[in-house]
Amino acid sequence: MNFKIAVLPGDGIGPEISKQGVHVMSAVAERFGHQVAYEYAICGADAIEKVGDPFPEETFQTCMRADAVLFSAVGDPKYDNDPTSKVRPEQGLLAMRQRLGLFANIRPIETFDCLIHKSPLKNELVRGADFICIRELTGGMYFGEKYQSDDRAYDTNIYTRPEIERILHVGYDYARRRKKHLTVVDKANILASSRLWRQIAKEIAPQYSDVQTDFMYVDNAAMRMIQEPRFFDVIVTENTFGDILTDEASCITGSMGLLPSASTGEHTPVFEPIHGSWPQAKGQNIANPLAQILSVAMLYEYFGLEAEGQLIREAVNASLDANVRTPEIQIEGGKHYGTKEVGQWIVDFIKGKAL
Ligand code: IPM
Ligand code: MG
Repeated sequence: MNFKIAVLPGDGIGPEISKQGVHVMSAVAERFGHQVAYEYAICGADAIEKVGDPFPEETFQTCMRADAVLFSAVGDPKYDNDPTSKVRPEQGLLAMRQRLGLFANIRPIETFDCLIHKSPLKNELVRGADFICIRELTGGMYFGEKYQSDDRAYDTNIYTRPEIERILHVGYDYARRRKKHLTVVDKANILASSRLWRQIAKEIAPQYSDVQTDFMYVDNAAMRMIQEPRFFDVIVTENTFGDILTDEASCITGSMGLLPSASTGEHTPVFEPIHGSWPQAKGQNIANPLAQILSVAMLYEYFGLEAEGQLIREAVNASLDANVRTPEIQIEGGKHYGTKEVGQWIVDFIKGKAL
């Protein structure tokens, strides 16, 4: 295949992990005879500094020309600590989601046996947990009408039927390819928007009679995820609930540095780690590149290139088994490998592996 990839390194540790993602993308392409052309573009705080806009038009055009976007992270403490700042790096992320129509955010939560001791939960609860959160990404409170004065403020949690239908279909498609269990997470006992979600899910469910559908209130889901994470197979939920639940879900496994995600929709799909820009670690060669590298696996798999994705997953597992790990997941007394060294080890594995 001929790939055109837009690379958006962004801020903080973004550029360092982005490099490793690109190396892995290229190593796999070489092994399987694909051609990859990369086009780099700015976003986040980096783009605010350079052109005053966290998602400039040129970056949008680069994304639109590409087959896929390899995104890293945005965010800078300079803006977090200044509530009066008119423009913020995160707005770049929201602009990207909106302009590329990325309505489906796919966040797989997988456990790695060798890292289970890092989980804050009892290991026997976590072992074997494996589910996917599908978060609606372009609607709800994030994009609904907002108002703020000195003594009143609101955000509108608005959803339309087509928005709900399309994300539910994505959820059912995933459930069909997995354990055929879909949990629709809402707050239908309180919110009108949630009641519409539930109504539409009930209408659609009969089209997927091979899938078991259940409904769970978001507060209950937050609890169940900790009590019995293995209960879940595919979760589908609105933007805000999905934001909160996926942070919770990501720490079940023991390291946020390992979880990739995909955002898909109307235009170019985006592949990115779940974690943020970790500004304190910037330039120190300590950030874990695995979430970014696994995002590349998701990218290949999105295009139906399963063997390519599998090779990356195998390489990542092998690096963990060989204890080639960044400090936060290294075993006690084990050597600390840097971002570059972990990336290089994985590239070497990919190059050396007999296919
Ligand atoms: C996420 C992040 C973003 C969100 C922030 C950085 C705007 O938390 O992707 O989950 O709230 O969607
Ligand atoms: Mg979040």
